[in-house]
Amino acid sequence: MITQPGFGHILNIADARRAAARRLPRGLFEYIDRGSEDEIAIGTNRRQLDAIRLAPRVLVDVSRPSTEAEILGHGLPLPLAVAPTAVAGLIWHDGEIALGKAAARTGVPFCVSTQSITAIERIAAESGARLWFQLYVWKNRQRMLALLDRAWAAGAETLMLTVDTPVGPNREYNTRNGFGIPLKASWRAGVDVALRPRWAIRVMLRALATGGVPTYAHYPEEFRTKLGQAALSDDVALAADVTWEDVKLLRRHWRGKLVLKGILRVDDALAAASHGCDAIVVSNHGARNLDCAAGPTEVLPAIADAAGERVEILADSGVRRGVDIARFLALGARGVLVGRAPLFGLAIGGADGAERILDILAAELRTAMGFLGTPRLADLPVTLRRPNQ
Ligand SMILES: Cc1cc2nc3c(=O)[nH]c(=O)nc-3n(C[C@H](O)[C@H](O)[C@H](O)COP(=O)(O)O)c2cc1C
Repeated sequence: MITQPGFGHILNIADARRAAARRLPRGLFEYIDRGSEDEIAIGTNRRQLDAIRLAPRVLVDVSRPSTEAEILGHGLPLPLAVAPTAVAGLIWHDGEIALGKAAARTGVPFCVSTQSITAIERIAAESGARLWFQLYVWKNRQRMLALLDRAWAAGAETLMLTVDTPVGPNREYNTRNGFGIPLKASWRAGVDVALRPRWAIRVMLRALATGGVPTYAHYPEEFRTKLGQAALSDDVALAADVTWEDVKLLRRHWRGKLVLKGILRVDDALAAASHGCDAIVVSNHGARNLDCAAGPTEVLPAIADAAGERVEILADSGVRRGVDIARFLALGARGVLVGRAPLFGLAIGGADGAERILDILAAELRTAMGFLGTPRLADLPVTLRRPNQ
């Protein structure tokens, strides 16, 4: 493993998470780290991943392991993509560009969120990453299609429609912490920021000095000014009436690959295939939305069995170690997305910190493959323990 200078003490994702908690204002750290309501789903995801034990094959030559994967028609050095995460630009100055740079150096795609702080044009120009674009459907579909045209023109090759967020999640800690976008001044948030002066100077003051109060860059200009906010905010509010009709509209409109993110049912996976989607992400949004949602590992095998021939299957939620990637692949995913893990790296060291995280995951995956006797990713499913094996 190459150790980026200054990160020798970060040996795993848990180390990075603890360091991020020390760096970021509490409201921001909790926004990244926590779940929703009683945070049952976070524990469910972890427990279900931990319960997947793989049976190693022995006496296999693992001297030349390859983590190469093919995802959405492209050969990648790792079965990984950086997940779309709103407001990465609050974690580090120009955080989305930094995440994109880390992804580019590692050779994996970076999925830009609709709700990113930096616009896709700048991320494309400055990061050099292979870009995907994540979409939340806006009430005003014309404005949404115009945004997609921007993403396409900027070079996004894959559109990822998030389908698991039809309503706003209930995250009470955000309310208690006074955290939200647009950022608002509150006594509690002020104390949080005052306790993290390094973040305040490096991120907030730089943002204020260069572009003003950070907000969603893809939202129309008028939305960001007080005057236009009331009139426009309804237009760009997340639509609660998103249906398969929208998938049809997007399939007609979007020329690149189309992916649905947040599928947990076999019937929905099959419907995605019949609507011409190229891939799905089996995901419960990192346990951030529905607190009683099924864990992705619970439903992945049935989805892979039923739909794996017709649509490419990716997965996410809970990857903290290389063995977690191996587990998802053993269950039938072709690749995984990582959300929080690179954000913890971003918080401690920008692009270098996020790259360190991707390197750790890659090294851990290679170790897991060596122990499992699976020099190729395609061998991983044979290590899955079936009953009576
Ligand atoms: C801070 C944060 C913001 C997120 N924002 C988005 C988003 O804007 N769009 C989206 O589809 N998913 C979003 N997600 C979910 C991730 O794309 C991904 O599904 C999830 O983080 C995977 O779980 P993991 O964090 O355990 O890797 C976000 C996740 C986090 C942690």
